[in-house]
This record gives sequence, structure tokens and C-alpha cells, in this order.
Amino acid sequence: MTTVLKLGGSVVTDKEAVEQVDTGRLERAADAVGAVHGRDRSEGDGTTPEPAELVVVHGGGSFGHPSAERYGVTTSDGTHDDSAVRDIHGAMRDLNRAVVDTLADAGVPAVQVAPFSTGYRVGGEFQQPAGAVAALLAEGFVPVLHGDVVATAGQGVTVVSGDELVTELAEGLDADRVGLCSDVPGVLDRDGAVIERIQAFDDVADVLGESAATDVTGGMAAKVRTLLDLGTPASVFDLDGLDAFLAGESPGTLVAGSYFSYGGE
Ligand code: IPE
Repeated sequence: MTTVLKLGGSVVTDKEAVEQVDTGRLERAADAVGAVHGRDRSEGDGTTPEPAELVVVHGGGSFGHPSAERYGVTTSDGTHDDSAVRDIHGAMRDLNRAVVDTLADAGVPAVQVAPFSTGYRVGGEFQQPAGAVAALLAEGFVPVLHGDVVATAGQGVTVVSGDELVTELAEGLDADRVGLCSDVPGVLDRDGAVIERIQAFDDVADVLGESAATDVTGGMAAKVRTLLDLGTPASVFDLDGLDAFLAGESPGTLVAGSYFSYGGE
């Protein structure tokens, strides 16, 4: 069982400040991960047929976004300014160090993997070879990747978002589950209520239409489209739902295309 979990920048950082880790929320998330994927558990007790493999990806929050903005770098607009690379990547490494250390303190065999050194973008498409991550998983580690800058053919470097990494890794590792933990409890309908399940974009298109215009990365509508295309069931939830997700439940919104048969009905 392979799970890819994204901890959004809003979970691990204080988004209102500059380069500020949200220690309380990060520790809470790390404890939840440690309770299920801690060192003792990943070593196994001989009764678990298949080890539970976990990859963590975290966003940029108040680390990646301000420095990327300063240099005008996005997922589609690149730069050849080497100081931009050092600053944006450096900020993300600082955050990654805090995330990895906090996970390690919570008993998770967390190790850092930098997309800048392992991924790249060609023709607009982000590629993250999964070989090293798969090998680390097989050896019992919990690889921790992060939004970053990556080499981009013809453009220098561009930003890679945590969501892009999640998609690439879920496909490359043939993951069984994806979890997106952010500051929203799920995909919300017009009344602000969490939509429990999304199986087709048309079911929610009118509810999600507006958010697409207000978010530069495409907002929830783009996220839902990507998740429906994924071929791996994905849950969208907030920190309150993390324990349940790691326990195998489906907190928040479960987004899964027609390949997936929803149980219990
Ligand atoms: C952004 O990653 C990474 C950089 C800006 C370098 P994300 O886009 O995944 O971050 P959050 O989760 O929205 O903060």
C-alpha cells in the first residue's frame, strides 16, 4: 500500500508571515504521521503482509511563494537568474529541513528528496522520475519532497508545485491513495458544505467554476480535474482529517473517477 500525502503550505507555515514555520500545526501533522508510519511500525512485526509506504510532499507557504514572487517565477514563467534559483530553492530547503526534522522527532524515518536535483520540465510538462523515491520506500524510508524550482527547457527554471509533484509521484509509484491536507476541510459546495464524493467534473462544474478565476494556479476546479484524471483515489481534507486519512478512512472529499467503485452502497 503506497500513499502520497501532501501537506499544504497552509498547514506547515504561517502564510501571513515571511518564512515562518507553523510549529504547532507541523508538530500536530508529524505526530499523526508518526502514529501510523513511525520507525517501530515501518520495521513491521512480521504479521503485516505489505509494508505501508508513505511519501510526503509539502508546499511552499510563506517560504516558497514570497521568493518566487520576488523573481516573477511561476510554473509557466521561468528565469535564468541564478540568484533566483539559490533563493527560492534555498527557502524551500529551509522549510524542508524543518518538516523533515519535525517528522523525525515524531518517530518517522523521514529523509529529504529535492525536486530541483531530481525533476525537470520539458514542453511545459513536469517530470519527476520516481526511481530514487521508489528505492527509498523499499528500504523503509519516508521520502519528503517539496514544491521547488526545476530546470525547464528553454526557460531556465520554473516553479514546480506540490500538487504537480503529487500527481507525478502517484503515477510513477502506482500509488494506492493520495491525500491533500490543506486549510480547507474538503471541496466545498455553494453553501460551504463539504462535498463528500466527486466522481465526474460535470457533477460539480457549476459549484467550482468561480474559484478557478480567483486563483492563479487554477484553484479547486483545476485541482479536481487533475485528481479525476489521476487514476488514484484522492482525499481533500484539513488537519482535523489527517488521523482518519492515515487510518485508511476518507475524510473530507473523496475525488475518484469512474475507475473507482465506492464501497458500502
Ligand atoms: C509552491 O508549492 C513552491 C514554490 C513557490 C517554490 P505549492 O504551490 O505546492 O505550495 P502551497 O501548498 O500552495 O503553499
